[in-house]
Amino acid sequence: MKVLLIGSGGREHALAWKLAQSPMVDELICAPGNAGIAEVADIVPIAADDILSLLALVQRDQHDLVVVGPEQPLALGLVDMLQDMGVKVFGPTQAAAQLESSKAFTKDLCDRYNIPTAAYGVFTDLAEAKAYLKTMTPPYVLKADGLAAGKGVVLPGTLKEAEAELEEFFSGKFGDASAKVVIEEFMHGEEASFFAICDGKTAMPLIAAQDHKRAFDDDKGPNTGGMGAYSPAPVFDDKALKTVMKTIIQPTLDGMAKDGVPFTGVLFAGLMMTKDGPKLIEYNARFGDPECQVLMRRLQSDLLPILIAAEVGDLENCPAPKWSKDPVVNVVLAAKGYPGKYAKGSEIKGITAANEMEGVVVFHAGTKADSAKVLANGGRVLNVTAQGKTVKAAVDLAYQAIDEAIDWPDGFCRRDIAKSAL
Ligand code: AMP
Ligand code: GLY
Repeated sequence: MKVLLIGSGGREHALAWKLAQSPMVDELICAPGNAGIAEVADIVPIAADDILSLLALVQRDQHDLVVVGPEQPLALGLVDMLQDMGVKVFGPTQAAAQLESSKAFTKDLCDRYNIPTAAYGVFTDLAEAKAYLKTMTPPYVLKADGLAAGKGVVLPGTLKEAEAELEEFFSGKFGDASAKVVIEEFMHGEEASFFAICDGKTAMPLIAAQDHKRAFDDDKGPNTGGMGAYSPAPVFDDKALKTVMKTIIQPTLDGMAKDGVPFTGVLFAGLMMTKDGPKLIEYNARFGDPECQVLMRRLQSDLLPILIAAEVGDLENCPAPKWSKDPVVNVVLAAKGYPGKYAKGSEIKGITAANEMEGVVVFHAGTKADSAKVLANGGRVLNVTAQGKTVKAAVDLAYQAIDEAIDWPDGFCRRDIAKSAL
């Protein structure tokens, strides 16, 4: 088969690495990819949100399957347009991707189908939003309705700060994305990211991982796309999986189908494990990044037949995937300054040496090849994944690869990934 993968992050390198191992894949193409993906796929320099160029590429090259990695092309309707051309594509339609692209859409769905989540209100009017805020207790949870690159959630500690934030939201802090604002009750507990592959009616549970969203150690500093991940997630045992499938994932899938927007693709549930059981924080309509990297390393089965079964609506008959029991840790190396301003273009050495260490696989994110050199080309730059018999062995191996093999003075990483699981 000829497979086209869309995206350029660590998530897509992990997907490309896994798909390249499938005996069913004859040709793997990635747009736009990165320096690491270029080692396992043919790269086409078209950005993931350049929908018209992507459509022209597929028209010309007639891929057998298109796999969409990031959220932007989903929200822009790439899947719908490819389907209209008769192309097989793994990912949700624009309407179904609203589970990620509109927080109000998801909260209203939860409300209609009794899916456990935080109490909330949705507002387009500042005065009404402020009145609702007064009925809540701190810390306050304010969310821009639309996509805001992971930055659209703020948790002010006082009513004054919350009111000031609300004013900023409504004066266009996140552009159109914050013209509508969701205000929520604050939930206490540990977080987990859980993934299921869906075909519109059947959900195949994958596994859970834990992400580290803040930039610095001990969960300090600004929110990022994710500075590291590990799996298994100790808070997410078999009982939690059963509960989440029964009370959150399946009712979502059934509700979406009933509402005429069946969901096909990866359903990524951000969960809060509260004392009253698991509750939904938010949905994403794709794999997580950096979570996907640890999932792909633990996945022993071929990924492609699962994606195909989802695309044709036959997950019901697809055997459950097999997973390695051995924990995997992913430590993200980011450019100094990320998630704020950072420089591009510095050389990264030692990736090959790190990859030669047993148990280590380095996935690229923002990198660019310059003849034999690898240059930094983004905020999150490398994902150093390591597998071990124990979480400690995996953590030690990842940091050993970073300290002894990789040479990149312009990068930084958190030193406490998976610490809470040790
Ligand atoms: P989201 O982008 O919706 O996942 O939110 C980003 C982060 O904000 C989450 O990972 C949580 O740490 C936090 N958060 C969001 N909603 C809530 C909530 N209702 N209660 C507590 N924390 C929340
Ligand atoms: N790691 C969180 C996300 O992919 O949105």
